[in-house]
Amino acid sequence: MKEKILVTGGAGYIGSHTCLELLNEGYEVVVVDNLSNASRESLARVEKLTGKTLSFYEVDIMDRAGLADVFHKEKNIAAVVHFAAKKAVGESVENPLEYYQNNITGSLCLCEMMLEHGVSRIVFSSSSTVYGSPETVPVQENARIGATNPYGHSKVMMEQVLMDTGKVNDWDVVILRYFNPVGAHDSGEIGEDPEYPFNLLPYVSQVAAGLREQVAIFGDDYETPDGTCIRDYIHVVDLAKAHVRSLDKILQKPQGLLVYNLGAGRGYSVKEMVEAFRRISGLEIKAVIEPRRSGDVPVSVGDPSKANKDLEWIAEHDLDDMVSSTWKWQTKYPRGYR
Ligand code: UFG
Repeated sequence: MKEKILVTGGAGYIGSHTCLELLNEGYEVVVVDNLSNASRESLARVEKLTGKTLSFYEVDIMDRAGLADVFHKEKNIAAVVHFAAKKAVGESVENPLEYYQNNITGSLCLCEMMLEHGVSRIVFSSSSTVYGSPETVPVQENARIGATNPYGHSKVMMEQVLMDTGKVNDWDVVILRYFNPVGAHDSGEIGEDPEYPFNLLPYVSQVAAGLREQVAIFGDDYETPDGTCIRDYIHVVDLAKAHVRSLDKILQKPQGLLVYNLGAGRGYSVKEMVEAFRRISGLEIKAVIEPRRSGDVPVSVGDPSKANKDLEWIAEHDLDDMVSSTWKWQTKYPRGYR
């Protein structure tokens, strides 16, 4: 068995896929999750798929005593992968304090616990949202930082907290900036299970499944080839593998601070995504044009070449894989984990 990894938010969408890859690679996995936007069932399925077991604690990372208890019980944690956070942009605008409280306080609590227990390696779940509206695309890691909503600000702040804390304490800090995570595990056993689908692909998927009548395309008057916004969609299994590569790297030898874009490096428009879903599902999927959604940037595409080189990692799944795995998960489990 390889080293012990603590995964916060491990029962969530990206967390559960990462736990699966970690177990498959022989790591020992300890999950801390408050199950506020996740289900224990995701991890039961991860255990079934891998034939391995993990340790689970239903603990909120803001609960100092609860988290301390985990660090006491689970000796020899070699590294932390930190996913636990709230992630809905619109909700963060409505309720900024909840976002700062949860995302910042929770992360500070985790960092303090790491310091107390001599854990000095962390892989952090950041987002392309830290670039705000990028001046040039594909965006590189050294681009100007400029988030535009409380969710994004919380990610920028956490990056800074980790950089400052890491620097003075000689930590290995890997900041992974995801572009648009989509798709599900090839088995169709685990996937994204949103209470309400704010993101494009889960929404389209629910329309295809007949759970919703139509999808709104938010704006077709952008300066893009077909007028709809372009995003760099990245398959969740590819994302998960990048976390494993990051851990492999920092566990092998000290690295200090590493910052990587995780994207496929190519963009698709909203219309192209809907069209791909129609083609793969063979269903009509009603779409209507609606006004722009406030806060959307026309184009967000990342340059993943730094991660490609340093982590020897590449996004292997193409558009069809992203859509077909989403559809497989949707049809196999129309109600997600419920
Ligand atoms: N869209 C629609 N209809 C929908 C949902 C989305 O047309 O019902 C459009 C959006 O306007 C956007 C594109 O589809 O142009 C993608 O939207 P998503 O909501 O799927 O993704 P975002 O790019 O807005 O957000 C994602 C993550 C955020 C992260 C952000 C960074 O979900 O967590 O990328 O840019 F902050």
